[in-house]
Order: sequence, then C-alpha cells, then structure tokens
Amino acid sequence: MEKLTYTHNADAAAVIAQTYDTPPLAYVRSYGCQQNVNDGEKTRGVLMDIGYGLCDKPEDADLILFNTCAVREHAEQRVFGNVGALKGLKEKKRGLMIGLCGCMANQKHVVEKLRKSYPYVDLVFGVDGIDTLPQLIAQKLQKHKRVLMEPAQRPVIVENIPIRRESEFRAWLPIMYGCDNFCTYCIVPYVRGREKSRKPGDILSEFRGLVEAGYKEITLLGQNVNSYGKGLEEQVDFADLLNLLCTVPGDYQIRFMTSHPKDASHKLIDTIAAQPHLCKHLHLPVQCGSDELLKKMNRHYTIEQYLELIEYARKTVPGITFSSDIIVGFPGETEEDFQGTLELVKKVGYMQLFTFIYSKRNGTPAAKLPDPTTHAEKAARMDRLLKLQDSIAFPMIAAMAGQTVKVLVEAAGRTPGTLNGRLDNNLVVEFPAEESLIGQYANVRLTGSRAALLVGELAE
Ligand code: SAH
Ligand code: SF4
Ligand code: F3S
Repeated sequence: MEKLTYTHNADAAAVIAQTYDTPPLAYVRSYGCQQNVNDGEKTRGVLMDIGYGLCDKPEDADLILFNTCAVREHAEQRVFGNVGALKGLKEKKRGLMIGLCGCMANQKHVVEKLRKSYPYVDLVFGVDGIDTLPQLIAQKLQKHKRVLMEPAQRPVIVENIPIRRESEFRAWLPIMYGCDNFCTYCIVPYVRGREKSRKPGDILSEFRGLVEAGYKEITLLGQNVNSYGKGLEEQVDFADLLNLLCTVPGDYQIRFMTSHPKDASHKLIDTIAAQPHLCKHLHLPVQCGSDELLKKMNRHYTIEQYLELIEYARKTVPGITFSSDIIVGFPGETEEDFQGTLELVKKVGYMQLFTFIYSKRNGTPAAKLPDPTTHAEKAARMDRLLKLQDSIAFPMIAAMAGQTVKVLVEAAGRTPGTLNGRLDNNLVVEFPAEESLIGQYANVRLTGSRAALLVGELAE
C-alpha cells in the first residue's frame, strides 16, 4: 500500500487568508461510528491547519460540514433533513459554505441527489479525501463553483494528517481502514473500500504520542481488527500489534473494535489475558442466532463456533464480559430464527447489546432478497429482544454491588453533583465527586444500580 504524508497546503491557506478579514469559522458534525468520529477530528485538524477556527453552532459558521454515515436508512434521512434545514441560513448568510463528506458521500446516488436537489451544498468529498480538503476549499473560493467530488477509492494511506481530538483523555486510533467482508446487509465495504492496514511503526508512534500526551484510554479502530496486517510487508497480526503497543510504558488502557468472530483467535484472547493494559471486555458482534441466517449474511461462522470462542474467553480471562451487535428482521428471518437469537442471548449473557432493525441498503446482496416480514412484526421482535436483554443484564449489573472497581472518569453525571466513570467492561457508574476528577482514574465502590447504570461512591 502506497503511503503519503500530509503536507501543509500554503496556497490554500493564502486563498483563505485573502478571502476573510478574520479567521473563518468551521462547524463540523460527525455521524456514525468511531471511525467517522476520528475522521471528523482529522477534518477539524486540517481546517485549523489552513487557518479556520472552530465553532459549536452552525449559525456562527462560515463553513458547515456534515461528516455522514450510510449504515442505515435512518442515518441518511437525518442528514438530508439537517442539510435541508440549512437552506434558510444559506440565503441569509452570503458566502456560507456547506459541505458533506464521509460515508454517504462515497455513494454515487447520493452525490447525484445533492447535485440535483440541494443546490446550496457547495462541497462534497468522500472518506479518502480529508487531506485534499484544503485544495477543494481553495478551488471553491477562487472559482465560485460547486466542488462535488465523485466517489472514488484511493489505494493509499495518508499519514500525519493534523488532528483536533474531542477529548484530552480518550483517543481513537485507527489501525486499518475499509472492509473486505461484504456481509450481505452491509454498505460499509462499498463506501469505505478495501481493507488497508497501517504500518505497525506508524501506529506505534501515534500511540506513543498519545500516551505521552496523557491519554488514559486509547481505542484501536477497524471494521475488523482481527484481520489487521493483511497485505503488509511485515508479518504481523492483531495480537502481535497489541503486544507491541503494550510495550509502551505508562498509565493507560486499550480498547478495540470491532472484532469479527470469524477471525477472532485464541491468540487474541490469550493476549487479552496476559496484558494488563487491555480491558477485559470483548465486543464480539454475532448479528443473529441462526446458522442459516448467518450463512445468508455471509458471516462465515456458526453459532457453535461463536459459543466456543465465548467459552474459551471466559475460561482464559477471568471476569471477562461481552457485548454484541444484533440485527433483527434480516430478510426472511423466521420466528424460529429469531428464537435462535433469543436463545443465544440467554446463553452468552451479554453485558450490553447494540440492536438494530434491518435496514435495506441498495447495492448490497441482501437488498434483493424477499423480505415478507412487516416492519410492525420486526419491531415487536425487537421489543421482545430488548426485554429479554434487560432481564438478563440488569440482575448481572445489580449483582456487582459491593465490588470496588477502577474507572476512568468521563464526564458529569445526570444527577447533579455526580460524575460518570466507565468500567473495564464498558458499564458506567455514577458517583458523587468533584469535577476535577474528570479524565482521571478513580476507585469506586459500587453500591447499587438503576437499570443499566451502576451507582457508587469514591473508595478511599
Ligand atoms: N464492522 C463491524 C460493524 C460495523 S457496522 C462488524 O462487523 O461488527 C455496526 C453494526 O451495524 C453492525 O454490526 C450491524 O449490527 C449493524 N448494521 C450494519 N448494516 C446494517 C443494516 N443494513 N441494517 C441494520 N443494521 C446494520
Ligand atoms: Fe459491515 Fe461485515 Fe464489514 Fe462489519 S465486517 S463493516 S458488518 S461488511
Ligand atoms: Fe456509518 Fe461509515 Fe461508520 S457507514 S457506521 S460512518 S463506516
């Protein structure tokens, strides 16, 4: 994979400096997964690099950018709604630039729709175009014409893109981009392109920089981190990478997502057990509990294999907890298939579930399958799944009372005077404490729970 290094675009910076008397302001809003959030952080970094300031309200902005997600129809509709709502602002504010980037912008039909029906959208570029943003903005400012890039995938990795991170203690760190799995329901491989792994040395130096800057939690990102290393000159797999990163001294913890069950190895689980820096939690999306449906989804594992992995992890990593993604109502899902999902959820006992009603994505193989189940039936199934999950997780969470746990304090809690801390297993505990603790580790004694939220108090 060819590697490029980001360089400052002085020409674009000059065009911007000539256009505006004072530094223009940019509002960047990211939708979707952490990968996209991280792309949004880079987009902000690049904008600052060429002279933009940042603002929190679209009304204050000279440039509004929506960094979009295409994974479900609802996500796309929200973006179109939000873009549409800017029409008035654009009419009032001459020179306001409106742009759309991210996964939606990597679909031809979306770019066409924007071209035809959203004339006030000035700028469109895809997920591989963040480093090109300076020249696109300069072009727009000089030629006063819309700059709508056609979806294209670049077989390159661009390193050293400036970044403006949202948090000073939790960081996202992509180790790979794209996806080669083509699960039949999923748009991601089409919008994010083929898998590309970053070099271990580049990941290590970014990681080291984060630890040195005081970051306490670093989440490694990839659509399937377990296939990390494919195509690199170095012989390195994901577990090797984790071991390499854990050689960096410091007070930090590592999370990662997402781990595809088909490639999750015993070696990975052994590494979680052996490395104290790794959170003892595994997000292992199963999608559904029926072998037949898994085949139709092109997931490449059976429920038996999945459960074997869970068992191995439980045996190897004492106290490990699990979470999962589940799709309800994949085309042709029968009541029996759905019963399989309920059975599986009971067997595993997930701490957390992320559940989605199937959303048809044009261009994916599943979009062509007959889908006779009504939305109401699917919603009813979802309801049953959520009720079951609550009945499993809430008692598990309540039973944690009495333990003292180490948490990373993330933010103010909902109850005044409290803070929220996140446990190793991704659960959140609310406890009374001073705000100065945000961004630090704390030991918290768990005293009880409300639904999925733990409550506790600072331990001495
Ligand atoms: N690469 C990750 C998931 C990325 S998308 C993985 O394979 O686990 C996050 C989740 O969105 C998926 O796990 C799936 O549960 C859900 N999802 C993806 N496409 C979907 C669709 N068309 N409809 C409903 N849910 C979908
Ligand atoms: Fe989508 Fe499957 Fe790739 Fe995950 S692994 S991003 S669900 S195609
Ligand atoms: Fe959405 Fe793109 Fe992520 S489609 S889930 S933002 S990879």
